Order: sequence, then structure tokens, then C-alpha cells
Amino acid sequence: MAINYSEKIPNNVDLAHDRTLQRALEHWQPHFLQWWHEMGPTDFEKADVYLRTATSVDAKGWASYGAVKMPDYRWGIFLADAVENRQIGFGDHMGEPVWQQVPGEHRSTLRRLIVTQGDTEPASVEQQRLLGHSCPSLYDLRNLFQVNVEEGRHLWAMVYLLHAYFGRDGREEAEELLARHSGDSDKPRILTTFNEPISDWLSLYCFTYFTDRDGKYQLKSLAESAFDPLSRTCRFMLTEEAHHMFVGETGIGRVVKRTLEVMKELGTDDPARIRAHGAVDLPLLQKYINFWCSSSLDLFGSEISSNAAASFANGLKGRPDETQYQDHVLRDAKLELDTPEGVQQVPMLNAINEVMRESYLKDCETGLRRWNRAIERAGHDFRLTLPSSRFRRSIGSWVGLPVDPSGKLLPKDEYERRLYEWVPSPEDRAFVKSLMQKVVEPGKMAAWVAPPDRGINNLPVDYEYVHLA
Ligand SMILES: [Fe+2]
Ligand SMILES: [Fe+2]
Repeated sequence: MAINYSEKIPNNVDLAHDRTLQRALEHWQPHFLQWWHEMGPTDFEKADVYLRTATSVDAKGWASYGAVKMPDYRWGIFLADAVENRQIGFGDHMGEPVWQQVPGEHRSTLRRLIVTQGDTEPASVEQQRLLGHSCPSLYDLRNLFQVNVEEGRHLWAMVYLLHAYFGRDGREEAEELLARHSGDSDKPRILTTFNEPISDWLSLYCFTYFTDRDGKYQLKSLAESAFDPLSRTCRFMLTEEAHHMFVGETGIGRVVKRTLEVMKELGTDDPARIRAHGAVDLPLLQKYINFWCSSSLDLFGSEISSNAAASFANGLKGRPDETQYQDHVLRDAKLELDTPEGVQQVPMLNAINEVMRESYLKDCETGLRRWNRAIERAGHDFRLTLPSSRFRRSIGSWVGLPVDPSGKLLPKDEYERRLYEWVPSPEDRAFVKSLMQKVVEPGKMAAWVAPPDRGINNLPVDYEYVHLA
């Protein structure tokens, strides 16, 4: 169904034919705009930003591009087209028709899944709200704002489900999604990673690479859901999410490229000299990767989880790309799990979080391979790596254990003494912060990052992607 832009809330769910729902969402809309005004990107409300907006949900032409002031962005409700005769693809109800309404017995679990996903969307906008002031280029500034408005739209996606399918409870949850704030000591966001401040662009690139990729995996598993409206919403969100990971992958790639140029120019790999030249040395980049990758791994939850088992068995949440697996019921399947007490055989059903974490880590490797090829081509031995999934766990069987990024258990005092060899120290963060000088001349880049290979939507790199008021 085409997207209707003539209504107050753009949508492709025929909102005009459900007056009650339409009124409820039109009541929430000004609260959302007020939240954007208070918690969205600071001081850029008057800027014209070259943004893409969804025009239809099919693969061909879903986007139009044009200069928009962010508060005027047309946030709305876009679901991927329904799959005819879709059946439940996993769990105990496999093969039965999918649900168009929420079954009473799964109401609170589904609501929790939707609220937890929904909470991350505005959280990331809040985390990134000051970054515009230190952008390395107009191109990057535009990409940040594109990510921000789309996370705002992802909030709309989840709020629509809460309003349309969860009655009064759902409406209350929708208000709460605007009341919690990232890093707020009284009302923090639900998940820890979404309360970490993102105060520099190296962190933003890592966040969009690692944390938005967690988002991709969560959305993929919810896209398998037997609750069809959730599946359709998530399928369309995934097409938007791809751009966020593009920002991360190309962002880190451009940092690597620039660093290699500086290393060549100076004829050294000495971090102190590279830093003195205003670039990010590769060991420092590795620390940022260790930090954001390990933090994002926690988002998958405990290796062993009866909640995850129940959500899978009941058809609420599948595995990412469920069709790639042979066994969709997992009644007898086992997984070998690596725990501090040794390898244990556990029911696969209880280890769904771990299955997801492993496929996520495989996906994370693709960017590393690309960056390492560039390093290798430049003739250096250094290789970027992903930290072991035992490193810096705040959840699960490795929680709080003194493990180094290679996965080796260390004496606690050695771990504590050496931690800043592996994650950014306060000095490292201060150095990165010192690099963050705002560059807003079209086509110009900050000295620590190379220009992108190409611009947005076939425009040149030096196009004025943001016209500052
Ligand atoms: Fe999102
Ligand atoms: Fe995202």
C-alpha cells in the first residue's frame, strides 16, 4: 500500500479508517515533537538538511531526497507489505497462520519486547545530540542527522504497535518512551549501552558499526515473529538500519585510511607521533573497537535464558534469518557452551541469545576484513581484531571476570592494572576529544578522517549537505 503523505501522520496502514487510533496517535505526535525539540540534535533546528524520506516500502524507489528542516521531517508509520498466507516459521506453533492480533497469553511478553526495542531508538538520538557541534564535515553532519531522524521514525514504528494493539497499557508505554532519557539517573533508558554518552565521532562510528548492528540482529529476529504487524514493521526498519551501519563501516574505514596516510607521510607507526600529527593511531582505534563491541555484546542477554527459550517456543521472536537453519523447533538440539567451568552441553532452545550473539560476531568480521586489507596493502603488520565475547561481560556466565580481549583469564590485579591497554583511558578519550573540531566548509574534512569515496545520492562530496542557518 502506498504511503499517504496528505495526512497529519504519513502512513501506509490506512490510518484514516481507524479514527480512534488516528486520534490517539495525533495526540502523541506533539509530545514526540516536543521530545525532539528538547532531546534531539541541539541547535540545528533551522538548518536545511539533505535528507531522504520514505516514499514507498518496496525495494525500487522507497526514498526521495531533499533539503528539510529536521523538525519538519515527515515521521510516520510504514509497514512492509504483508506476505500472503504467511505461516509461523519456528517454535511450537510452526506452520500455523501468523497472528494479526496479540494472543492474550503473550500480551505482556510481546509488549516488553516492543518497549525494549522502542526504548533504544530515542535513546540513541539523545546519546548523539551534541555531536553536531564537532562534526568532521558537512557530509558527516548530514549522515548523523539522517540516522537521528530515522531512529525517531523507528520510535514511531514501535509506538504505532503499542497504540494499535495494546490498548491503554500501550498508550501509557508510549508516553514512558518519551519520559525516560539516556543517562538520566532517575529515569534511564532500559539497556546500559544506551546510557553511555557518545561524545566524539570515533565513538559514533563504533556505535553505528557495533550497536546499530545489534539493532539489525534484534530487528531480524523480530521480523520472524508470529505477530505479523511486528514482523512487517521490523522488515521495513531493516532497510533504514542498513544506512546506519554504512555510516559506521565507512566511518571507521575512513579513519583507517587517513591514519595510513599519516603513517606513510611520517614514515612511522609510533602512536605518539601519529597523535602529534592529529590522527588516530591504530592501537587507539582498537581500544574503541574493544569498548563498543564488548558493550554491544551485552545487549544479546545471558547465554542461558529461559525467557529467550519461551519467546522462541511461543513464536514471538525467532533467530535472525530463521530460514537458514534446518531445525526450527529445537526440541532436542544441544549447543556446546563455553563457560568459566568448562564446556557444557545445554539445550539449544535456552541458548538462543548465544546463537544470535555468534551470528552477530560473524557479521561484525566483514568490516574488520576490509579495514585489515587496507592496512596490509599499506605494508603494516598491525591487524584490528574483535575482542573475545568473554571480555568485559556485564551479563551471563563470564560476568565480571578478569578476562583479556583474547579471552584469557587473568589474575584480578593484573586485569585491573592493564585495563587501559585494552579500552580507552581517560587520556585517550581526552586526546580523541581534542581532535573533534567542527569543520563545516563544503568538501572539507577534519584532519583525522579521510573523505568518503562518494557523496550521497550521486552528489559530489563537496555538496552543501547541510545549509546552516
Ligand atoms: Fe533504529
Ligand atoms: Fe539504527
